[in-house]
Amino acid sequence: MIGAMPNALSTTLSHVYPLGSAINAAGHLELGGCDTLELAKQFGTPAYIVSEDDLRARARAFMDGIRTRSLAADVLFASKAFPCTAVYRLLAEEGLACDVASGGELALALKGGFDPKRVYFHGNAKSLAELRFAMQAGVGHIVLDSLDDLTRTEQTAAELDLTQEVLLRITPDVRGDTHAAISTGQADSKFGFGMAEAPQAIDQAAASEHLKLVGLHCHIGSQLLQLEPFQRAVTELAKLGEFDVYNLGGGLGVAYTEGQEPPSIADYLATLLDAANKELNARKILIEPGRALVANSTVTLYEVQTVKHNVSTWVGVDGGMSDNLRPMLYDAPYEVANAGRMNETGGEPVILAGKHCESGDVIARDVPLDDPQPGDILVTPATGAYGYAMANNYNGVPRPPVIFVSGGNPRVVVRRETYDDLSARDV
Ligand SMILES: Cc1ncc(COP(=O)(O)O)c(C=O)c1O
Repeated sequence: MIGAMPNALSTTLSHVYPLGSAINAAGHLELGGCDTLELAKQFGTPAYIVSEDDLRARARAFMDGIRTRSLAADVLFASKAFPCTAVYRLLAEEGLACDVASGGELALALKGGFDPKRVYFHGNAKSLAELRFAMQAGVGHIVLDSLDDLTRTEQTAAELDLTQEVLLRITPDVRGDTHAAISTGQADSKFGFGMAEAPQAIDQAAASEHLKLVGLHCHIGSQLLQLEPFQRAVTELAKLGEFDVYNLGGGLGVAYTEGQEPPSIADYLATLLDAANKELNARKILIEPGRALVANSTVTLYEVQTVKHNVSTWVGVDGGMSDNLRPMLYDAPYEVANAGRMNETGGEPVILAGKHCESGDVIARDVPLDDPQPGDILVTPATGAYGYAMANNYNGVPRPPVIFVSGGNPRVVVRRETYDDLSARDV
């Protein structure tokens, strides 16, 4: 849910679908004014279809929401969620700053038009080459994750004869209710400085000739559907002293299925900034949403290839774990609909199976579909976050294109991979 915001787009479909999506007179799913069956015909399947208006609306909900509460606050796009040049470009245009977690994401952010000064470079195991690249590119802030990371960042800054602004990532021992693989705030985490070690790291960074410590960062986990853990993390950070800048991370959850009701962006911002105002005497508050910015902007279109009845009904489509790893990694649930028969409700529960050679390659279980047939175009909504980002070539399957839609116009921003691309790096 976006919550109250100016120029809100509405949708006639559930909140899982991008804002502005609708069912047209033919009963087809329409996104950004484009008929998804036409898109499937024109661009093939599988395909990621991104509603540009939805992305902009969510970016504005974050930017306007935070700026009305604090002029000095800033929103960073956690670009690991959708590291696609066109998405970087759109969010840079909307005035966001950017969080990158590798040299590759930094290269994409720069290509997408982000001012390096507005980039924050994260990572628990940054290489020296990545640190050099970041500093030579003029990255505004590096987020330090361990004493070794601190020392290596300091040495690299000395080597390049510069002073690098840094934040320290703190692991506050706050656990939100989410899948273990995306929980990061617990004491025994691979990320950040524990509360016991933090004072030493603060002293060391503050004393450094080549580092300028401006503040603290924390990110307690992802797909969090309750706000209370965010407040607890702020309380923990406050115990470490006063700093100019606090980056409170990302993590706001989204709706993947109709029954999920995550907090609105407005409620999330209100809770976070109230806690920060009460407990931190900060000059600047940063947040870095990934999923909540991009997940619901996008749907994936698939074509049904086969339908079989082996105890369950198995509907096999032309994609799967190569375009959406989340069901395999986190048992993540998705909804499925027949994009050409959106008015149909009910149908027997089926298993939506991917095309890959793994029994676990299942996109969704027990989803109702009314008489699915080979050739039908199916849609899974809410695939904008960590879908494209984790896409792979298992079984030599070329990765899908990314297509932006707006005002009735489709625009390919990433083309489909070809078989030649699969051997393009061979020497
Ligand atoms: C440091 C950091 N910030 C922000 C994010 C974005 O999280 P989300 O997509 O849940 O908003 C992540 C996700 O892993 C992260 O590790």
